[in-house]
Amino acid sequence: MAALLPVRLARAGRRGAGVRRTAAVLLGGGRMALIAVTSPGGAPGVTTVCLAAAFTWPDPVLLAECDPSGGGVLPGYFAGQQPYRIGVAEVAMTAARDLEAARVQLAEEAVPLDGDARRRLLLPGVADPRQALQIKGSWPQIAQVLTTAGRDVIADVGALGVESVPYAILTAADAVVLVLRPTVRFVAMAGPRIEALSRGALAATPHFLLLIGEGPYPAAEVSRTLGGTPILGTVPMLPKAAHILSDGAAGRTRWAGRLQMSSLLRTVGNLGAQLRERLDSASEEQPAAAVGVVPPASFGAGPDLHPGPAAGADSGGGRR
Ligand SMILES: Nc1ncnc2c1ncn2[C@@H]1O[C@H](COP(=O)(O)OP(=O)(O)O)[C@@H](O)[C@H]1O
Ligand SMILES: [Mg+2]
Repeated sequence: MAALLPVRLARAGRRGAGVRRTAAVLLGGGRMALIAVTSPGGAPGVTTVCLAAAFTWPDPVLLAECDPSGGGVLPGYFAGQQPYRIGVAEVAMTAARDLEAARVQLAEEAVPLDGDARRRLLLPGVADPRQALQIKGSWPQIAQVLTTAGRDVIADVGALGVESVPYAILTAADAVVLVLRPTVRFVAMAGPRIEALSRGALAATPHFLLLIGEGPYPAAEVSRTLGGTPILGTVPMLPKAAHILSDGAAGRTRWAGRLQMSSLLRTVGNLGAQLRERLDSASEEQPAAAVGVVPPASFGAGPDLHPGPAAGADSGGGRR
C-alpha cells in the first residue's frame, strides 16, 4: 500500500479524473472507480446486487457497506459466521487521525470474498445504526480512503432517506446507481430522489437506474418518467439466488439456487462490466465531464405511468 496516493493529492480534487488518474500513474494500473449504489427506499435489492457485483466485477474490487441503517453482508450472506476485524466505523476512526493508516488497514484487514486471492474485499458496514450517528461526520474521510484504495469500490449507500445519507460518498462517486423495481410505488419514491441527485454537487455525476424485476411498466417508460435517466439494465427476479446472497442459505437451498445463481451473477456481471467500460470511455473522451448523463430530471407532481406492453418495449439505454 506504500505506493498509494498521498493524502494531499486526494484532497486536490472532488472526484474523478484528476485524482484518480494520478492514482493510476502511481499504482501503474487502470483508473479506479467509485460506484455508489442506492435506492429510493423500499428494499428493492441494493445489498443483493452489490454483493453479486462484487463477486463478478472485472477488476479487483472493494464492496464498502456505507448504509447508515446497517451492513447486511455479514449477518446476511455470511449468516454471522464470518470473523472480521474491521468495519466502516473502525476505518472512520483510523482515518480521523491518519488517512494512510486507514488505507493500509483497509487493504490488510477487509474481509475477503474470495479467500486468499483478496481480489474481492468487503468492508462491513455498521452493526448498529447508533454507530452510524457517531460516524456521520466522518463520511468525507471515509470517501477519501475509498477513492484512494487502489481498486474499484462499490459502495452500498442504502436508501436515500431523510437523514443520515452519506452524501460525501455520493459526491465522491464516479457514478450513482439507483436501484428500484418498475412499479408505481418505486417510481413515485424515485422521482424526488432523482431530482435531488440532479442538482448541486451531484449534478455532474452520471446516474443510472437499475431495475429489479420486469414490469408492470416497461423500462423505457420508467426511464422517461424519471426525467430520461438512463437505465443500466434489468436484473430478473430470481428469489432463490437472491435469498442466498441476502440471507445466506445452506445445503439444499444453496443447491436449489444454483441455476438461478449463475443467471443472477451472469446478468449482474455483464451490467457491471458495461458500467466499468462506460466509465473508462467517459474518462478518456471527456475527463472532467459527466458523459452519458441525462439533463436534470423534470420530475413533476407525480409519476406519469401507464400500464404498458408486457415486455420488449425497452429502448434508448435500456436493458441490454
Ligand atoms: N433479483 C432479485 N430477485 C428476487 N428477490 C430479490 C432480488 N434482489 C433482492 N431480492 C430480495 O429482496 C429483499 C431485499 O434485498 P436487499 O438486497 O436486502 O435490499 P436492500 O439492500 O435494497 O434493502 C431480500 O429478501 C432479497 O433476497
Ligand atoms: Mg441493504
